This record gives sequence, C-alpha cells and structure tokens, in this order.
Amino acid sequence: MVKAVVLGAAGGIGQPLSLLLKTNPLISELSLYDIVNTPGVAADLSHIATPAKVQGFLPADDGLKKALTGADIVVIPAGVPRKPGMTRDDLFKINAGIVRDLATGIATTAPKAFVLVISNPVNSTVPIVAEVFKKNGVFDPKRIFGVTTLDVVRASTFVSEILGDLSLAPSIKVPVVGGHSGVTIVPLLSQSSHPLPTSLKGDALDKLVNRIQFGGDEVVKAKDGAGSATLSMAYAGAEFAEKLLRAAKGEKGIVAPTYVHLSADKAGGDAIKKEIGKDLDYFSAPVELGPEGVVKINSLGKINEYEQKLIQAALPDLATNIEKGASFIDAPK
Ligand code: NAI
Repeated sequence: MVKAVVLGAAGGIGQPLSLLLKTNPLISELSLYDIVNTPGVAADLSHIATPAKVQGFLPADDGLKKALTGADIVVIPAGVPRKPGMTRDDLFKINAGIVRDLATGIATTAPKAFVLVISNPVNSTVPIVAEVFKKNGVFDPKRIFGVTTLDVVRASTFVSEILGDLSLAPSIKVPVVGGHSGVTIVPLLSQSSHPLPTSLKGDALDKLVNRIQFGGDEVVKAKDGAGSATLSMAYAGAEFAEKLLRAAKGEKGIVAPTYVHLSADKAGGDAIKKEIGKDLDYFSAPVELGPEGVVKINSLGKINEYEQKLIQAALPDLATNIEKGASFIDAPK
C-alpha cells in the first residue's frame, strides 16, 4: 500500500502529474492538495479505472494535514512558474515561503515520507525543505530529492534528435549533474549511452549543451506568458517517482540523477566534493535508490576537460543558490 500526495495538484504540472500517478499501479492512494480546485481535479481523476483511491483537499479544515497523513511519497509542484524574461531565481520571493510552509506540514505530519521537490528554484527550495526538517528534528537527507529529471529527459531527446532517430530517445541515457538552472545544469555528454558523432564539437557542441541548460526557456518563450514546462515536467516527475517507488519495493540497481544533500551518503558525497573541488552541501549526481531513499551517491565518472569547465562554471551560482535557500530558514546548525 503506497500513499502518494501532490502539493500544488491543481496547477499546470500538478494536474498531469496527478493523472500519471493515478495510472501508476504501485500507488494505492493519491491525495491532492492545492489552495484551489482540488475537489474538481480529484473527482475527475477518481473516475479512471485504476486502483488508486483519489481524494482532494483544500487548506480549510486542516486540509494539508489530512492530505499528508500516512503519506509515503510527497511531490511538490506548488508555486508560481516563470514568465518570459524571468530566471528561476526570480521565483524565490514567492516560492520560498510556499515551500517552507508545505515542508513544515510534511515535517510535522509525514516526516518519513520521500519528498520530491519540483518547485523552483530547485537549487534553493531543496535546502529550504532540508532546513525546515532540521528545525523540526526530523531531517533525513536520504529522503529529500530535488527533481532534475526533466534535464535528463531533455538531454535524451535532444541527443536523439542529433542522432536523427527519435525512437532512440527512451533508451538514451545522459547523466546530467550539478543543479537545476541555467549554467548549473551540466550534461555529461561524453558518457552518453549512445555516443555522439565525433564531428560534434566546437560551436555545435556548445549549442547542444546550451539547449539542455536553457531548454526550459524554449517552452517559456513558446507559451508566451502562460507559464513554463508543465507536461514534460509531469512526465519527468512521474518517471522519477516511479523509479523511487520501484526501488522502495526492493528493486536493485536503480540509478537516477537527482539533487540531494551530500551527507545522504557520506563517502559518496565526499567523493563528489573532491571531484568538483568544492565543499558544497548539495549537488545533483547519479544516485542509487533503495527502500530508504538514497543508497549511494555515485561518482561523476570520467569527465573530460570540457565538462570539467562546465562544472567549474556551475559552482559559483550553485553555492549562492544553496546559501540563499538555507539561510531563508533560521535553523540551528
Ligand atoms: P502553476 O501556477 O500552473 O501551478 C502551481 C499550483 O500551485 C497552482 O495550482 C497554485 O494554486 C498552487 N499553489 C500556490 N500556492 C500554494 C500553496 N501554498 N499550497 C499549495 N498549492 C499552492 O505552475 P506550474 O507550471 O505547475 O509550476 C509549478 C512550479 O514548478 C513552478 O515553481 C515552476 O517553476 C516549477 N517547475 C519545475 C521544473 C523542474 O524541472 N523542477 C520544471 C518546470 C516547472
């Protein structure tokens, strides 16, 4: 029996993500929470002929607490998305408070749940969740994840386009590490499961890296004020949730890049710090998942000079974003 909860379930990501979770046979109960419209979304989804029992909650009558009671996995896509010209960091002002309050609800009601943070800026919102959990004395770094899967999904798709065969996309694996915004997104293309043509270098390689780093902007621009990626994000969020649930059930060897506190696996985390040459608390790395969440933070593997430069370029922003999130919550260290 697995209870999944979506916080921000009536939004652009929340609705299709809830739909995908409703169709996941590993989930037996699905609670939808938002400040608006969840009764409607829940009623709609509840007619789908899959086992998960769906309920919707609003803030009134202790709705957040009711939604979260007994949760095994909580996904957070609550908050405002970007408009053209905005960076993810511009969202901090509004989303930091939303994430803090939702994290407080989780820490006090379902502290053992896996927490999957989608709300941007992920580089800062994950530290916010962690600090709230510390403040409540329930911090377990193995259970808090920043969802960077969309960057991985985009990398697979864009590489398949370069290889001229979209049918390869589902099987192409490219580790994407670092963080989740602009230059902090670092695709390790030299480790692609499907090697790129050797002719892809110079400007062409820069262009591909830039497209993976700023792919979100393509969507923001095309939506022209109506928000950012929602459908591809829902797909990516559901994929990561599925991996975590399979690993939680005991399936071995499931590895996915995700943004975690590096103490989740001390030895692995220390090795990452050495590889990047900086003592950061958080980093997105390939993580092996298991019943307790993080089993092992894997090495970044063989990194070429070009990728080492990308990593070095990511570190200053990443450090600033982490500090901004962590200092938003006044936790005793
Ligand atoms: P949206 O505006 O369509 O939906 C957000 C939902 O959150 C709305 O239904 C709203 O009512 C709800 N909400 C606001 N305050 C809340 C609160 N206190 N409690 C519960 N629900 C609350 O936005 P969209 O497009 O779904 O994006 C959501 C977030 O996901 C944004 O921060 C966006 O930047 C982020 N995002 C993250 C990605 C990633 O790769 N991690 C990719 C794309 C978007």
